[in-house]
Amino acid sequence: MAYDRRPDDMKRITTGELADEFIEEQIFALREQIGDKKVLLALSGGVDSSVVAALLIKAVGQQLTCVHVNHGLLRKGEPEQVIEVFKNQMKANLIYVDATDRFLDKLAGVTDPEQKRKIIGGEFIEVFAEEAHKLNGIEFLAQGTIWPDILESEAGIKAHHNAGGLPEDLKFELVEPVKILFKDEVRVVGERLGLPANMVYRQPFPGPGLGVRCPGAITRDRLEAVRESDAILREEFAKNGLEGRVWQYFTVVPDFKSTGVKDGKRTFDWPCIIRAINTTDVMEVTVEHLSDELIDHLVKRIISEVPGINRVLFDYTPKPPATVEYE
Ligand code: XMP
Repeated sequence: MAYDRRPDDMKRITTGELADEFIEEQIFALREQIGDKKVLLALSGGVDSSVVAALLIKAVGQQLTCVHVNHGLLRKGEPEQVIEVFKNQMKANLIYVDATDRFLDKLAGVTDPEQKRKIIGGEFIEVFAEEAHKLNGIEFLAQGTIWPDILESEAGIKAHHNAGGLPEDLKFELVEPVKILFKDEVRVVGERLGLPANMVYRQPFPGPGLGVRCPGAITRDRLEAVRESDAILREEFAKNGLEGRVWQYFTVVPDFKSTGVKDGKRTFDWPCIIRAINTTDVMEVTVEHLSDELIDHLVKRIISEVPGINRVLFDYTPKPPATVEYE
């Protein structure tokens, strides 16, 4: 049974059994909707698009084409994990586009945060549309719309996050198999579909990716410093049992330098800022207070392992007044 809206009496999917029921229903509904036609999906590696991909692979297999666009602003290991899980393990028809140079060339010298976001969003649509044009006979576009997206768009809070902006000549019928689910339900379904826990329970990550954590004009060296320090932070949070317990944590490398000393020589390098926060609705956030031991360890690792960093700072500011991201 395919639903357009979440039925008022629908039970919250909290168990594997309820998830299995939902998966069975959706496989049936997807096969009915799609028939023997082809479907396209922009697979970011985020929870929602990953669960949609896994559902569609089960329902229609090779009729699905996934496009994973690497905009060069993903976290360390992300594109590799998408390829490993979907192409190697689930045998999906996956097109991987490394568009790093394209994005970073367009972003070169751009300092305005909104302009940066616009360039990233616009270029994403262009790359995706180019790939869609290369394929023949696609009739459906799958999307990871979830129930809060629909409620928020109805309330006028947010534009419905569909492929708004795709060129006119690309006319697709939408396939939105998780649109009646809340986020926690999407995760339970994802787990039942065999997706790895670190993908299903991953922390929120903004669409413009590390681009908003490299404030001002993005340069490749500073972006690498963000990526490497973020990877260390995530590794240490996982080792210390904080993964899945802290809502969101990341590093920012601002565009200024300060003096330091290394091996008896003067350095002039960037600081790395660590932000770790907790929240329920992201309107208000509190700061996760780290242990002295973990702080010392993070400082030591980041300073010694990340080129270009000579200082580590901790951002202990709640929201409000500070937003989660830096731009
Ligand atoms: P702020 O910085 O507004 O962030 O307090 C609140 C939450 O939203 C995420 N965020 C974004 N997500 N595109 C996204 O998909 C964006 O441009 C964007 N900006 C912020 C942020 O990571 C946090 O979880």
